[in-house]
Amino acid sequence: MADSLFLGIESSCDDSSVALLAEDGTLVRLLSQAHLEALQPFGGVMPEVVSREHGRVLPLLLAEICRDLDFSRLKAVAFTAGPGLPGSLLIGSHCARTLSLVKKIPLLPIHHLEGHLLAYELEHPPLPYPYVALIVSGGHTQLVMVRAPFSYEIIGKTRDDAAGEAYDKVAKILGFAYPGGPALANLADHGQDLKLLTRPLTQDKTNLDMSFSGLKTQARTIWESFDGKKEDFCASVQAAINDTLVLKLQRCLEQFPEIQGIDLCGGVACNKDLRKKVEALCTESQRRWACASPKFCADNAAMIAISGLRHWQLDGPALKRDIDGCRSVWPLDSQD
Ligand code: KG4
Ligand code: ZN
Repeated sequence: MADSLFLGIESSCDDSSVALLAEDGTLVRLLSQAHLEALQPFGGVMPEVVSREHGRVLPLLLAEICRDLDFSRLKAVAFTAGPGLPGSLLIGSHCARTLSLVKKIPLLPIHHLEGHLLAYELEHPPLPYPYVALIVSGGHTQLVMVRAPFSYEIIGKTRDDAAGEAYDKVAKILGFAYPGGPALANLADHGQDLKLLTRPLTQDKTNLDMSFSGLKTQARTIWESFDGKKEDFCASVQAAINDTLVLKLQRCLEQFPEIQGIDLCGGVACNKDLRKKVEALCTESQRRWACASPKFCADNAAMIAISGLRHWQLDGPALKRDIDGCRSVWPLDSQD
C-alpha cells in the first residue's frame, strides 16, 4: 500500500502541470510549464491561446511522468475539473479521462480552490479545525471557514477584482510584463509604504468582503503625477493590498474566536510581505498558521494530487462527482 501512487493533472488557467504523489503524501515528481511566453503579446490570459498550449504541452508532460511508471501502483487520476477556463479545463479533463479509461484507474475530479487550500499539506501537518483559509490568487480572493474535512463555508470574498488581479493590473500600469505581481513585489521589497492608497472596504468592521477594482484606478491616478521612487510606489501598493487582506483576517478571528489557525494559499501567498504579516497576526493572536512553499502556492498539479489523495483516504474511489467534462463555474461551497 505504501507503494501506491496518485497522479495529479492541472490545467485550469495558464499552467500545464502533472504530478505523482505517494500514498504517504510524499511528492515523487512535479512537472510544470507556464505559458507566459505565448501570452506576452496579449499582456494577459487569452483563453484560446492557453487552450492550444495545454493541448500541445500536457500530453508531453504526461508522457514524461508516465515513462517507466508501473501502472499497477497508480490508484487514481486526480484532475482539476473546475473552476477555470473551459477550453483549458477540457484538455486536462480529456487527458485524465483517456488515461483512466485505457488503464482502468478511477478518476477523481478536484476543485481547483480545494487544491490551493490543501497545498500546505504537501509540507506541513493538517491544521486543527476549525481554521480559516485565505485563498488569494489571480482569479479568486476568498475567506473560507473549514470546520471539518471538505466542509467549506465562504465567509468573505472579493466583490470585483481578485488580489492577484489587482497586483497584475497595477503592475501593467507601471510597465511590468504579465503577470507583473511578482515583479511589483520584488521592487516593493526595496521601498517604503508612503500610505498613498486607501485600504478598500475596511470601514464597516463586520464586513468580510473585499473590493480591489477601485485600488487599481486610484493607483493609476496617483502614479500619473507621482514623482517619487518607483520602489516606494510599489511598496505603497503592496501594503494597501496586503494590509486589507490581513485586516479582514484579523476581523475574522474577532468574529469567530473558535478559529484555531490560518491557511494562507494561492499564488499571491508567494508574497513575502503578506506571509510576514499573516505570521505576525498568528503569533500575536496565538493561532497556528500554514503556508506552502512558493512553488506549491502557484497553480500546480501536486496540490491537485494531494486533494485527490485526501478524498481517497476518506471516501476511497467513491468520489463520483457527476461532472460531464468540466465545470468552469463551480463555487467551493457547493461541492457536489
Ligand atoms: O494561484 P495562481 O498561480 O493562479 C491562479 O489560480 O490565479 O496565482 C497567480 C497570481 C497572479 O496574479 C500573480 O501576479 C500573483 O499570483 N503572484 C503574486 C506574487 N507571486 C504571484 N502577487 C504578489 N506578490 C507575489 N510575490
Ligand atoms: Zn489557482
